[in-house]
Amino acid sequence: MSRVYSNAVLITALSESDAGQVVRSSSSQPGLMTRMLEALDVHDGQRVLEIGTGTGYNAALLSHRLGDDQVFSVDVDGDLVDAARSRLAAIGYQPTLVTVDGAGGLPEHAPFDRIIATCSVPAVPWAWVEQTRPGGLILTDVKPAVNAGSLALLRRTDSGAEGRFDRTYAAFMGLRKQGEAYTSVSRPRDRSDAAERATTVAPETLQNLVVWFLAALDIGAGVSCGYTGSDPAQAPTAAWIATADQSWAEIDLEPDGGAYRVREGGPRPLWKTVENAHATWVQRDQPGWERFGLTVTRNSQWVWIDDPDGAHCWRIHT
Ligand SMILES: C[S@@+](CC[C@H](N)C(=O)[O-])C[C@H]1O[C@@H](n2cnc3c(N)ncnc32)[C@H](O)[C@@H]1O
Repeated sequence: MSRVYSNAVLITALSESDAGQVVRSSSSQPGLMTRMLEALDVHDGQRVLEIGTGTGYNAALLSHRLGDDQVFSVDVDGDLVDAARSRLAAIGYQPTLVTVDGAGGLPEHAPFDRIIATCSVPAVPWAWVEQTRPGGLILTDVKPAVNAGSLALLRRTDSGAEGRFDRTYAAFMGLRKQGEAYTSVSRPRDRSDAAERATTVAPETLQNLVVWFLAALDIGAGVSCGYTGSDPAQAPTAAWIATADQSWAEIDLEPDGGAYRVREGGPRPLWKTVENAHATWVQRDQPGWERFGLTVTRNSQWVWIDDPDGAHCWRIHT
């Protein structure tokens, strides 16, 4: 019981994938749930849709605050929904829980004043915008690629939805299709097409998640990264990035004479994209998440910096 009240993520369901066991569901960190519920700014009488029921913890908090008849929550897996329904009933709450792919929202119960997603999306599903009342809010983790993005709070406008990213980074598991296997891109086996050069943009740049976000917006979905070395028993010696079109880059972790060796192959020079993203970040005075915003319309979505109408924006490939 004490673990339920500890400020920790609790893994509650696993599934098998080619890469071994992966997390299928978890109970989010209570501190993050609280932060999100505060940002969601709910008021008496409002109807809320949650995407990602999981354990039902967050649905319980919403039911306590608003009354369970105002709360709707969906998850893609029926066993999770059934277990959450039993748990919630045991403490006296009966919100509307549905097993469905949350990408489509819950049109039969729309409109909602608030939509909160506790899983990440590569782009905001238009169904969520359509199912939010004018002036209502959508809070979701927007990640066009792995680790690339964070929580965004969007207000429904006449033409779509618009808002800013939260100042503190957060990460949720990705929205998935039922039964879908988790896949990730690895580097091509044949890397003989490598072009080698030097760079002053250090491999640690990959840990600057704002730079990685800007790079991923440029590269597009499906980019993977990792670390490698010639001896698996030893610490890695290089970081790598790869995309499905067989583009790849590998950068040494140790500098050589003040610069780092980079090898790139395939149709797109991926480390060049990281260098460009880093240069943009430096030119813009090293912005944090709170300087970025997102505009969503029916046909396109774009990330902006400081001002939605500013010159510099990045289209999210939907
Ligand atoms: C971090 S957990 C949710 C935690 C939950 N809110 C709680 O209070 O325990 C993310 C959930 O998103 C669900 N999910 C993933 N893809 C989904 C989809 N397409 N539609 C609905 N839920 C989905 C997962 O099954 C998982 O239970």
